[in-house]
Amino acid sequence: MHRSFLILLSFLCFFVNLCLSDPRATQAALICTNRTAKVPERQTFVANFLATLDAVTPLIMRQKYAAVINGTGSTTVYAFGECMKDLDGTDCNLCFAQCKTQVLRCLPFQRAIRGGRLFYDGCYLRYDDYDFFNETLSAQDKTICATGDFSGGNKTVFSANVLDLVKNLSVQAPKNDGFFVGSVDRGNVSVFGLAQCWEFVNGSACETCLTNAASKIGMCAPKDEGRVLNAGCYLRYSTQKFYDNSTIPSRRNKRHGRLTVILAVTLPIVAVASIVATAVFFAQRRVVEKKRARKELGALLVTVNKSKLNFSYESLEKATNYFNPSNKLGQGGSGSVYKVKSCISFCSFCR
Ligand SMILES: *[C@@H]1O[C@H](CO)[C@@H](O)[C@H](O)[C@H]1NC(C)=O
Ligand SMILES: *[C@@H]1O[C@H](CO)[C@@H](O)[C@H](O)[C@H]1NC(C)=O
Ligand SMILES: *[C@@H]1O[C@H](CO)[C@@H](O)[C@H](O)[C@H]1NC(C)=O
Ligand SMILES: *[C@@H]1O[C@H](CO)[C@@H](O)[C@H](O)[C@H]1NC(C)=O
Ligand SMILES: *[C@@H]1O[C@H](CO)[C@@H](O)[C@H](O)[C@H]1NC(C)=O
Ligand SMILES: *[C@@H]1O[C@H](CO)[C@@H](O)[C@H](O)[C@H]1NC(C)=O
Ligand SMILES: *[C@@H]1O[C@H](CO)[C@@H](O)[C@H](O)[C@H]1NC(C)=O
Ligand SMILES: *[C@@H]1O[C@H](CO)[C@@H](O)[C@H](O)[C@H]1NC(C)=O
Repeated sequence: MHRSFLILLSFLCFFVNLCLSDPRATQAALICTNRTAKVPERQTFVANFLATLDAVTPLIMRQKYAAVINGTGSTTVYAFGECMKDLDGTDCNLCFAQCKTQVLRCLPFQRAIRGGRLFYDGCYLRYDDYDFFNETLSAQDKTICATGDFSGGNKTVFSANVLDLVKNLSVQAPKNDGFFVGSVDRGNVSVFGLAQCWEFVNGSACETCLTNAASKIGMCAPKDEGRVLNAGCYLRYSTQKFYDNSTIPSRRNKRHGRLTVILAVTLPIVAVASIVATAVFFAQRRVVEKKRARKELGALLVTVNKSKLNFSYESLEKATNYFNPSNKLGQGGSGSVYKVKSCISFCSFCR
């Protein structure tokens, strides 16, 4: 089991390296709620959670956002995902595929946590046990400032530019379908920013959310970067031009297209494997609770097997084909074949 865990880790690292390019799949914050489910409800809640994750991906691919509800009563799971509007379709899929596997770090069955939000710089995913789709602000909202001060010029000018920029973004975005990017370049100091409200946050709520965000992010200046991660919106400024304001569709479409296929096929495997491996890992650590943990793990595996995340052997084989070295996916081509094959035997072992 320990070996499987290591193989899984190297497999995950391979993907992290592969897709850290321009989908902005870099984490801004992971926020898990502190609410927990009652023991008898846990299995159903996990099953519903997995069902919502299954349903979110095709919607993201079609419309760049998704809202899914599954279950009834106190085991209902709400899930929402959205990409930043400047990402093209392929980058959106890449960012989201990554985001989806990482939100599992707020595992609902580890102490039965009932909600989590993962903010990436390119996309966002949240699940919870209530309808939060048009929520504007919440107690768990976060402001994250860089650690270093701006060092490329006059700090007073920089701070003034930041305040001007975020004010402008928070006024413009609600009037522009909840999205705006821009820069302020004065006194030889440039600042770049992006503001976005989530799909179901209406115009006036978007304004409320971003006004709040602009006032909080102002406290970051003169740090050279700042982000506000609210329930209803995302606001970021930086000394770097991190967004894409071109209207030209993406370059390198072909390579990205293939990557997306691979990720779409293999990431559910990674997801299943990480659920199982993490559960195993925690089960092994708590020797005292071993018996109870084993019982729960058995039930969990049944749940995972029932979900659509469980892939047929044929589709797994197809996945290994995509890793053929002739596909020239960069270094480690044959290494990854080995990793994928290991994952298959790992997965079939779990059945
Ligand atoms: C959960 O977090 C909120 C706010 O962070 C706090 O007010 C509340 O007491 C916490 N609840 C539990 C059960 O820890
Ligand atoms: C929840 O997910 C399951 C499994 O995918 C599906 O069969 C069911 O119809 C879904 N329920 C709702 C209310 O969407
Ligand atoms: C959120 O939207 C739903 C319907 O779309 C509406 O019934 C509800 O009142 C809204 N919530 C708030 C806080 O506006
Ligand atoms: C920075 O700019 C402000 C306003 O333009 C000016 O008053 C101040 O002296 C400048 N500081 C430095 C260190 O250049
Ligand atoms: C704010 O936005 C408006 C409209 O895009 C623009 O004309 C103005 O120059 C902007 N101001 C700043 C300080 O960026
Ligand atoms: C901007 O930089 C140029 C060259 O470095 C300098 O000549 C000019 O005075 C600077 N302008 C301001 C407003 O600081
Ligand atoms: C917009 O959303 C807010 C909060 O969700 C709600 O109070 C308000 O009624 C909504 N306005 C419209 C016009 O739907
Ligand atoms: C994109 O941003 C850059 C720098 O802010 C600007 O020079 C350029 O004109 C912008 N392009 C478009 C299409 O808005």
